[in-house]
Amino acid sequence: MASPVQKISVTGIKPTGEPHLGNYIGAIRPALDLASEYQAMYFIADYHALTTLRDPELLRHYTRSVAASWIAAGLDPERTLIYRQSDVPETFELNWVMSCLTGKGLMNRAHAYKAARDRNEEAGRSDLDAGVNMGLFNYPLLMAVDILIMNAEVVPVGKDQVQHVEIAADIAGSFNHVYGAGYRFTVPKPLIPDTDNARTLPGVDGRKMSKSYDNTIPLFIPASKLKKLVRRIPTDSTPVEDPKNADDSSVFQILRQFADEEVVEDTRTRLAAGGVGWGVLKDQLFEILDEQLAPMRERYEALVAPGSELDDILAAGAEKARARAGETLAAVRNAVGI
Ligand code: ADP
Ligand code: TRP
Repeated sequence: MASPVQKISVTGIKPTGEPHLGNYIGAIRPALDLASEYQAMYFIADYHALTTLRDPELLRHYTRSVAASWIAAGLDPERTLIYRQSDVPETFELNWVMSCLTGKGLMNRAHAYKAARDRNEEAGRSDLDAGVNMGLFNYPLLMAVDILIMNAEVVPVGKDQVQHVEIAADIAGSFNHVYGAGYRFTVPKPLIPDTDNARTLPGVDGRKMSKSYDNTIPLFIPASKLKKLVRRIPTDSTPVEDPKNADDSSVFQILRQFADEEVVEDTRTRLAAGGVGWGVLKDQLFEILDEQLAPMRERYEALVAPGSELDDILAAGAEKARARAGETLAAVRNAVGI
């Protein structure tokens, strides 16, 4: 663990799909860069995934795959806590206590719930809550508890999750207001990575790479599949001999996140000079990706295999996380009179 003067950060990762290159550049790599500055904790938010994922085998697989991906990508479990949300049952007891302190109106205002209602309205449905389960409605509350039970000071999240961290801060404030004489929660703050559009990767159809568009390049597929997917990235019909503007190309937008600065500049110059076709650029991208991903892929495959070292890592993480959550919960029970 990092030194005690470092701030505690907590981040949850929803296991709803195979991690892809976009997740790596936009979430995994920046989060791992932060891990040295904070006493960082990461957990796989498996109970959160239940709001949408109803295939038990798939949930088990994604949970393992996400944990294995983060470790393969460089998370050091000796220094950084990694655990499954479901291994900390204290979360669900605190969830009840906090639900009794949370106004329903606060949940009504949450973006995801409002967006679901807007979709129903647009579709002309008379029941604006159609298709909304209580898990979706209470999602921000559970997320608040994930954060508060660890007394996190900062929560590294993307812009779309900032409102949830503000809700967590509100709920901590309500608890502290009512029961502050007996126990006080740390009020968390969001930590938003620099807004850098360059870090949003396009997928194999040119739109933003996203599981919801089914256009992803998974991080740890075999080299042959990686090559095929890179070949699918759309390019325009500029003839080989013509000059090309590198930054307009999806292939280059991915390349520049993985290659060294020097290679990026050299590629930009060669494309601008003309004579380099998109096929050559795709081959170069594949080589760069494969060189970086191959060692991680090997580690990933070893970890994701049943009965691997991952089980021990998650068991050790669970033990440490529960110990910390248990202390919070014991203090809360005492403070509220249970
Ligand atoms: P998806 O859109 O595939 O469902 P998530 O919404 O689960 O991805 O995103 C998880 C994290 O990965 C978020 O922090 C998000 O900002 C980041 N991320 C997702 N897609 C991309 C992308 N194409 N480029 C950069 N970052 C991305
Ligand atoms: N809601 C987050 C997402 O959709 C995942 C998450 C769950 C989380 N609990 C959290 C993130 C606690 C930060 C802290 O990406």
